[in-house]
Amino acid sequence: MKISVIGCGYLGVVHAACMARLGHDVVGVDVDERKIAALQSAAAPFYEPGLNELLADIQAGCTAHGAGTGAGAGSLRFTTDLEQIAGARAHFVCVGTPQRKGENAADLRYVDAAFASAAAYLAPGDLIIGKSTVPVGTAGRLAEDLHRTVPEARLVWNPEFLREGHAVTDTLHPDRLVYGIPDDEHRETTAAVLDEIYAAPLAGGSARLVTDYPTAELVKTAANSFLATKISFINAMAELCEAAGADVTELADAIGLDDRIGRKFLNAGLGFGGGCLPKDIRAFMARAGELGADQALTFLREVDSINMRRRIRMVELAREVCDGSFLGKTITVLGAAFKPESDDVRDSPALNVAAQIQLQGGNVVVTDPQALTNAEQRYPDLRYEPDLQFALAGADAVLLLTEWGDYTGLDPEKTATLVRARRILDGRNVLDPTTWRAAGWTYRALGRP
Ligand code: UDX
Repeated sequence: MKISVIGCGYLGVVHAACMARLGHDVVGVDVDERKIAALQSAAAPFYEPGLNELLADIQAGCTAHGAGTGAGAGSLRFTTDLEQIAGARAHFVCVGTPQRKGENAADLRYVDAAFASAAAYLAPGDLIIGKSTVPVGTAGRLAEDLHRTVPEARLVWNPEFLREGHAVTDTLHPDRLVYGIPDDEHRETTAAVLDEIYAAPLAGGSARLVTDYPTAELVKTAANSFLATKISFINAMAELCEAAGADVTELADAIGLDDRIGRKFLNAGLGFGGGCLPKDIRAFMARAGELGADQALTFLREVDSINMRRRIRMVELAREVCDGSFLGKTITVLGAAFKPESDDVRDSPALNVAAQIQLQGGNVVVTDPQALTNAEQRYPDLRYEPDLQFALAGADAVLLLTEWGDYTGLDPEKTATLVRARRILDGRNVLDPTTWRAAGWTYRALGRP
C-alpha cells in the first residue's frame, strides 16, 4: 500500500522504516532539511539499535529491484515536500506533542499544523491516522475540522506504544494495535484498511482492538500513567526501605512473583525520565482538569513528586558519601541518556543529578556511550569525557546513573586502579553490593541498606 508518514522524528522514522519492512511503499515527510538529508543517506538522526541497518537494508532493496519492489520489503523515501504525500492511501501523523513551556499541558501546534496542511492532499476515502500522544478529545476535534474541508477523508486514532531502545521490534511485533474509529457505516471498511497495513503483525499474534476516538487516545495515556505509577510505587517503597533498613530489590523480586503484580517496571532507583512518561502524566493531569475530572488524577501529582524526589535523594546520598561536601571532589557520572540503548537526554535523571552536583561545587565528569552530543546541547556547562577509563580517572566518587552494559559489567578491582577513592553509588540498583564491597568499595544505593 502507498503510505505517507508526516513527521520524521523518533516515532515517524521508526514507523516509516517498519512500514516499508512490512512491504509498503512509504514516503516520509519532515520540514527539517538536515534530518531529511541524513535519512536520504540511510542514517537515522538519533541512536536506535537496529534502525540504521533496517534503513540501509530497505534502501539496498530499492536500488537492487527498482523503487517500490524491494525483496520482501517495500520502498522508502524521505522528502521535505509535503505535496509528495498525494496519492498515498493512508497518512500517518507522527509529530511531537511536547510539554508547553511553563505549563503541564501538551503543545498541540505540530499536530494541528500537520493535519491542516495534509488535508490539502487527501483524496476521498484516504485515511489520515494519528499516532502522536494527544490529550483525550483531540481526535474528535481534528475530525470535525477535517470534515469541513475534506468530508470523505477518514480519521483514525492509532496510538503508538514503542519503547526507545526496542522501537523496531515493538513496531514490527506490537502487543496490541488499537484502532480508534467512530462507530458509523465506514467503521468496518476503515478497519479493513488498517488490517491490510498491519497484516504481518496481526498474523504474528498482535492483539487488535477497535474503539472510539477517546478510548483510543486514553489507552496511550492510561498505559503510560500506569507504568509511571508502578515505577513511583517501587521508588516510594525504596524510601521506606531506606528508613527501615530493608532492601528494595529483594522486595521487588518478592512482590513481583505475584503474577497479578509482575516484576517488570519494578526497578527502583533514580526514577523515570525521557520524552514520554514525565510529560504524558503532566499533560494527562492538565487535560483531566479541563474536563472537570482533576480529582481522578491527583495521585499522578504524587507519582511525579516521588519521581522528582529520587533525583534530590541521589544528590544527598552522593554528598553524604563525599563527607558532606562536593568542594574539591571529582564526581564521575556514568550515563547521560534517560535510559540505556538510547541517545535521548530529554528529562534525563542522570543529567539532572550531574547538574545539581556541579551547582553544589563538585567537579563533575559525565560519560555515556551514545548520548554525549545531545547532552552537550542541553547542558553545555557540564564536562564530558567519551572514554570510560579517562572519565573514571581520579574520581572521588562514581555515580552509576544510566545502566548501560558497559557500566553494569565494570570490574570493581580494575576500576579501583583508576579512581582516587573507592566510592560507588548505584543509582539503578544494578551492581552486586557484595562484590564491590569485597573489593574495598563503599557501595551505596537508593533503597538498599
Ligand atoms: C515509554 C513506554 O514504555 C512506551 O510504551 C511509550 O510508548 C513511551 O514511553 P520509553 O520512554 O521509551 O517508553 O521508556 P521506558 O522503557 O518506559 O522507560 C521510561 C523511564 O522509566 C526510563 O527513564 C527508565 O529508566 C525508567 N524505569 C523503567 C525505571 O526507573 N524503572 C523501571 O522499572 C522501568
